[in-house]
Amino acid sequence: MKRDEFSGFFGVLVAAVGSAVGLGNLWRFPYLVGQNGGAAFILIYLAFVMIICLPIIISEFIIGRRSRANTVKAFQILAPNTPWSIIGVVGVLASFCIMAFYTVVGGWTLDYLFRSLIHLFSKPDISSLESQFTNLVTSPVRPILWTVVFMIFNAFIVMSGVKKGIEKYSKIMMPVLFLMIVILMIQSFTLPGAAKGVEFLVKPDFSKINTQVVLAALGQAFFSLSLGMGCMITYGSYIPSRENLSKLSFTTAISDTLFAILAGLAIMPAVFAFGISPQEGPGLVFIVLPRIFAQIPLGNLFAVIFFIILFIAAITSVISLLEVITAYVTERLKMKRTIAVLLISLMVTVCASFSSLSQGVLKEVKLFGRTIFDFFDHLSANILLPLGGLFIVLFVGWYMKKSQVYDEFTNQGTLKGTLFGAFYFIIRYVAPVAIAAVFLDLILR
Ligand code: PFF
Repeated sequence: MKRDEFSGFFGVLVAAVGSAVGLGNLWRFPYLVGQNGGAAFILIYLAFVMIICLPIIISEFIIGRRSRANTVKAFQILAPNTPWSIIGVVGVLASFCIMAFYTVVGGWTLDYLFRSLIHLFSKPDISSLESQFTNLVTSPVRPILWTVVFMIFNAFIVMSGVKKGIEKYSKIMMPVLFLMIVILMIQSFTLPGAAKGVEFLVKPDFSKINTQVVLAALGQAFFSLSLGMGCMITYGSYIPSRENLSKLSFTTAISDTLFAILAGLAIMPAVFAFGISPQEGPGLVFIVLPRIFAQIPLGNLFAVIFFIILFIAAITSVISLLEVITAYVTERLKMKRTIAVLLISLMVTVCASFSSLSQGVLKEVKLFGRTIFDFFDHLSANILLPLGGLFIVLFVGWYMKKSQVYDEFTNQGTLKGTLFGAFYFIIRYVAPVAIAAVFLDLILR
C-alpha cells in the first residue's frame, strides 16, 4: 500500500505549525513570561528556539523522511538490530500520556465555548467565574462528556488520513486561528491601561534572569515546538522528497514563535488593563479571561472567538499526537486506519476519564505523589520529552553517517547546504549538553 504524503510545502507547514501551536502557546507561554521577567525571558526563549530547537526540528524531519516510516520503525530502518528504536517506543508512550491530559483540557475549552455561546458569561461576577471553573473540572460526568466530544473531532480528522484529514483541516483551521488571534489582539490593545501589558512584553528586566529562568525557557521551547517524542519524525515521514527540510523547519519555528508572541500580545494587555497578576497559570485562560470578557462591550462575542482559538489550537496539536500512535499501529500491526484510530481513541478516552476524575472524586488517588492528571503531565512533558530529545540529537549527530544526514539536509546534494556545518556542530555538541542540563534540572528539582 502506498504511504500517504503531504501535498507540498504549505501542507507540511500548516500541519507542523498546527502541531506546535497549542495550549503551550496560549496559556503556558504568557504565564511563564509573567513569572520569569517578561521581555528578558522572551529574548532567551527566542535564542533557544533558533539555536537549539531549530536544528532539532531538522533532525526529526531528517529521521522521518530518510526512513519514511513511523517513529519506531524509523529507528529500526536506520539502525537495524540496535536498541535505538526504544526512542520511538518512548515517543509513542509520550504521545499517549500527553493525550491523556491534553484531551481533558480540550474538553474544558469545548464546555466554555458552548457556555459562552449561550451567553453564560454576561454577569461580571468574579466569584461565580471561579466556581464555574471548579464546578466544571471537579464534576464527575460533564468534563468527560466534553472530552469524548473533543476526542471524536480528533479521531474523525486522523481517520480521514494525512492529506485528506490532517492537512485539509489544518489548512482551514490555521488561517482562522491566526485571524482570530489578530482580532483579539487589536481588541486587547484598545483597552485603557493596555500599554503596561505591551511594555511588560517588550521591556526586558535582566535582573530577573537566573539559571531557573534560562532552563524554563529551554523547556518551554521544547514543549511548544512538539519536540522530543517523534511527532516531527512522523510528520517528517510524509514530507515529499523535493521539499527543503531546513526551510520548512525554520518557517515552523518562526510561525510557532509568532503565534506565542501574538497570544502574549492578545492576553497580557487585557490582564494588565484589569489589574490581574500575570502569573495566574491555567486559571488565566479559564477564570481570568472570561472575567475580562464579562466587562467589555461585545464581551460574549470575544469570549466565543477566544474559545474557538483555544479549541483550534488544541485540536491541531492533538491530531499530531494521535497520528504518532496511529502510524505506528497501522504499520506495525497492518491494521486498517479506521480501526486503529477507533481503538487508540477508546484507550485514550479511558485514561483521560481517569485524569479528569482525578480533578474531583479521584483527587486522593496518587501515582508517585501526584494526581493522575498531574502524573501524565509531569511524566510526558518533564521526563519523556527531554529524554527523547536528547537521544534524537545523539542519534543524528553521532550514530547516523554524516553523509546520510548531509544527503537529507541538501536533498541529495541538489540544495546548497551552506548552513550544514553550523547545524551539524549544534547537533553534535551544543544541543546534547543543553538538553542534558534541562533534563538534570527537571529531575533534580
Ligand atoms: N506543542 C503543543 C503545544 O504547544 O501545546 C503540545 C505538544 C503537541 C507537544 C504535540 C508535543 C507534541 F508531540
